[in-house]
Amino acid sequence: MKKTIKLVALALAAMLMCACFVGCGAEKKELVMATNAEFPPYEYVENGEIVGIDAEIGAAIAKELGMEFRIENMEFDSIITAVMSGKADVGLAGMTVTEERLQNINFSSSYATGVQVVIVAEDSPITSVDDLFDVGGYTIGVQLGTTGDLYSTWDLEDEGLGTVSRFNKGADAVLALTTGKVDCVIIDNEPAKAFVAANEGLKILETSYAVEDYAIAVAKDNTKLLEDINAALEKLTADGTIPGIIEKYIPSEG
Ligand code: ARG
Repeated sequence: MKKTIKLVALALAAMLMCACFVGCGAEKKELVMATNAEFPPYEYVENGEIVGIDAEIGAAIAKELGMEFRIENMEFDSIITAVMSGKADVGLAGMTVTEERLQNINFSSSYATGVQVVIVAEDSPITSVDDLFDVGGYTIGVQLGTTGDLYSTWDLEDEGLGTVSRFNKGADAVLALTTGKVDCVIIDNEPAKAFVAANEGLKILETSYAVEDYAIAVAKDNTKLLEDINAALEKLTADGTIPGIIEKYIPSEG
């Protein structure tokens, strides 16, 4: 009798082990991050490799979750669709949390702040954000599908106060500014600094356009991943990993 019980117990244990192997094997082992590597210092290409704050945060989260990690580079306005369709697990692209985007995807807790700023030529007649509204009639360069695009479309173009010129890359909008094809560029402050540093004769206006939160996009039905990512973000913030990554790319002065 005792022997039978032991045998049954052994058989059950073996079955459980098999079930775990099968189950564990089926679990997703790779975290695919969709991004648009045209956004220094968050994501950009250096020596043929995608580097930057988001690339490192993505890798740190994957490591924390025990997953392999892969980055898919694409147009910025394809990222949300890629996450919705499951082509990518996360969108990590200096992406601002907005009400409209929340209709289609979920956002993790925020890991950084962004500011929409205005880049102009050093001798530009535009001296403040107010000039865009009060003087009006300017052509505003933006990266397609970004909040810079959305806000200037709603606030200026739709109000008949200006024209929005949309580019696939922020750098192309800035190039159009250097050649006088647009009067200003509205873009996030950190890439703005990088673009101004890389081009002669440009400056960032002191008044900013909008302050926003960056977060990680996850598919609506992937609540488990969202929870895991939020837990990982919390841990990697508390242990100094994420602050360290940000400091590496955006050294605080002093
Ligand atoms: N923060 C802005 C937005 O969410 C711009 C982000 C652009 N990111 C990029 N990787 N190109 O719309």
